[in-house]
Amino acid sequence: MQHWFSSSRSFPAMVNTTGILGVVLLARHGDRLEFFQDPLTYNPTQTFLTPLGSVQELQLGTFLRDSYLDAASPSFINGISADLADINQLIVRADAGGGGSVILDSVQGLLQGLFPPTTDNNITLANGTTIIGPLGGYQYIPVESVEPNLDISLNSFTSCPNFDQHILDFYASAPFLAEAQVAAPFLTQLQPFLDNRSIDFTNMFNIFDFVNVQMVHNATFLSLIPPSFPPQSYDLANFHEHGVFTDSPNGIGNIAIQTILPSIFTSLTRIANTSDTLKLALNEISYKPFISLFNLTLATTTDPDPHLGGIVDYASVVALELSATDGEPAVSMRFKNGTTDPEFHPLTLFGADAVPLSQFISLLAPTAVNSTQEWCVACNQTTLRGCSVFN
Ligand SMILES: *[C@@H]1O[C@H](CO)[C@@H](O)[C@H](O)[C@H]1NC(C)=O
Ligand SMILES: *[C@@H]1O[C@H](CO)[C@@H](O)[C@H](O)[C@H]1NC(C)=O
Ligand SMILES: *[C@@H]1O[C@H](CO)[C@@H](O)[C@H](O)[C@H]1NC(C)=O
Ligand SMILES: *[C@@H]1O[C@H](CO)[C@@H](O)[C@H](O)[C@H]1NC(C)=O
Ligand SMILES: *[C@@H]1O[C@H](CO)[C@@H](O)[C@H](O)[C@H]1NC(C)=O
Ligand SMILES: *[C@@H]1O[C@H](CO)[C@@H](O)[C@H](O)[C@H]1NC(C)=O
Ligand SMILES: *[C@@H]1O[C@H](CO)[C@@H](O)[C@H](O)[C@H]1NC(C)=O
Ligand SMILES: *[C@@H]1O[C@H](CO)[C@@H](O)[C@H](O)[C@H]1NC(C)=O
Ligand SMILES: *[C@@H]1O[C@H](CO)[C@@H](O)[C@H](O)[C@H]1NC(C)=O
Repeated sequence: MQHWFSSSRSFPAMVNTTGILGVVLLARHGDRLEFFQDPLTYNPTQTFLTPLGSVQELQLGTFLRDSYLDAASPSFINGISADLADINQLIVRADAGGGGSVILDSVQGLLQGLFPPTTDNNITLANGTTIIGPLGGYQYIPVESVEPNLDISLNSFTSCPNFDQHILDFYASAPFLAEAQVAAPFLTQLQPFLDNRSIDFTNMFNIFDFVNVQMVHNATFLSLIPPSFPPQSYDLANFHEHGVFTDSPNGIGNIAIQTILPSIFTSLTRIANTSDTLKLALNEISYKPFISLFNLTLATTTDPDPHLGGIVDYASVVALELSATDGEPAVSMRFKNGTTDPEFHPLTLFGADAVPLSQFISLLAPTAVNSTQEWCVACNQTTLRGCSVFN
């Protein structure tokens, strides 16, 4: 088993929290059909969210509602409008890239669980009649669709030549070549199940994804595949994706989260400001930024967990919670690994249970990529994604 995280830094044991001020959430989309990504560029092909995926997202939304919007919960967000959503307290963004509308559709399911229909969503007209919104008071929460060609922030790992070079460097590295050799006999055994997909180890994400999707959606496949094969393909894909989406702190391998950091800083700073209305910021994304976030924050969990740093399950969530303390508000991180995981697990941030907000920002800011222009430079992209204007 690989242990991705060994180093840790310690902070004074300062945290004596007195309530949650707000939260920044990073949530993964739900179950979908097969998703092919070019192993050299991570350019996606189109795929679709399934009804199962929508249910998983709804369950995640309900879980988050129970955590943050129930006054009886220890992590209730003080002052949030829990039943009738107050859109001034919310920011919701979803990655519009990554193979069609899977992520945008996912966030709708999550929001349906987070703010379910309520008869409070009504209006009394001049003639005295009270009208409740459709579907029992369904709530429409505005979602910013983050279009990759207009805003690089949630999908910064495609069309990025320096990232492509990082991928090639990883594929040429000694650990990759060694793992490819370890994997080869297994992949040969797996090949008959792969419907002629390449068993080159560079294709490992797609191999895993094919197996995973077939396991969920193809009864024949499910009955034929030896039970040890799916976990083995998952382990190998975790190695592969960890190598692709991590790096030294300032390296381009962490770009998937580096471009999200600025909005995390802004949201947490706004939540800390008691004159500001913001309480909850939700970013619906793919699995990649999770890997980079855990790498950059040196995240560990007290539950022994070999896959922290691998592909998180569908409908996983990371919560960056801002808590009031005697002094400066503090950031802490919790993680729930998909639908089958019933609860949040606390993760460390830079070796600590919680970190003062200013320290959280100052530790991560040097690696943040703050604008399209900075992304163009970091990627050495001169034409696509809006970079031509800076050239
Ligand atoms: C309309 O909403 C208000 C709260 O905004 C609530 O008190 C009232 O009971 C609702 N009316 C109906 C008919 O549900
Ligand atoms: C009041 O206006 C609404 C909307 O036009 C209508 O549906 C309703 O029947 C009216 N109620 C009465 C009592 O006229
Ligand atoms: C399998 O894939 C190879 C290369 O992609 C292709 O040349 C070949 O025709 C495929 N075979 C079948 C049976 O689809
Ligand atoms: C289901 O799996 C079987 C066995 O691997 C395969 O032959 C079949 O083509 C698959 N069906 C679909 C729709 O992918
Ligand atoms: C982050 O990723 C790099 C490159 O894969 C790795 O060398 C490093 O150990 C990782 N850091 C942590 C804390 O996992
Ligand atoms: C806090 O929020 C208020 C209201 O949005 C704003 O006017 C003020 O500038 C903010 N303070 C800081 C320090 O950003
Ligand atoms: C997530 O859950 C899967 C099983 O669904 C498990 O194999 C994996 O190790 C878990 N990952 C983390 C980081 O907990
Ligand atoms: C982004 O801004 C932070 C300050 O908030 C700075 O430390 C960092 O270097 C900037 N990133 C780039 C790529 O210039
Ligand atoms: C940036 O890309 C151009 C080709 O588009 C290449 O000539 C140049 O060497 C690259 N610069 C760096 C610093 O990688």
